[in-house]
Amino acid sequence: MPPRRSAKGRSVPRASAVILIGFMGAGKTCVGRALSSELGWAFEDLDQRIERQERRKIADIFRESGEAEFRRLEHEALSSLLRDSGPRRKKVIALGGGAFVQETNEALISAAKIPTVFLDACVEELWTRCERQSREAGIERPLMSYRERFLGLYEQRRPRYLKASLRQETSGKTVEQIVAELIRSLGLRAARS
Ligand code: S3P
Repeated sequence: MPPRRSAKGRSVPRASAVILIGFMGAGKTCVGRALSSELGWAFEDLDQRIERQERRKIADIFRESGEAEFRRLEHEALSSLLRDSGPRRKKVIALGGGAFVQETNEALISAAKIPTVFLDACVEELWTRCERQSREAGIERPLMSYRERFLGLYEQRRPRYLKASLRQETSGKTVEQIVAELIRSLGLRAARS
């Protein structure tokens, strides 16, 4: 495969890590796992890192300590994750829906020079996915609340998500399709190809 070149003809380093962002229900964890396995990279989910470190569920952190404390833990966890990842990272990282929206987190990511991918879907589909996950898998999302509030929060956050390096549409697509499209648009190579 020839080296990637920028529009000005300079060679562009191939991404050695990718951060998936997007609203609740966007499929960040699910797509992240599948993408990492296809690339032969490690996978890390920021919310799971917080839960391991805190030894409690995200919903319990919100209930017992409030959102402000969750955001503080989230920022610390992101900072240590990026520090631990090192320069030869080969890692797919999935963030919780509110992480990229916090300016301090966006600054950390931009300093780490890791491309971000906004997994997008129409908000009605995001709501349906979250409702189904809550009903079928008991997944509790503290900020899901009721439909109108969910829609409002999505509209409020969308301009932030659009600042990602890349937007990937997910509505009506399978995880396999999304992963294949992402590998192509990021100029990466599947481990088995
Ligand atoms: C949040 C989304 C959740 C989790 C926390 C806050 C948010 O992650 O980080 O409940 O602010 O949108 P998911 O996007 O994986 O549901």
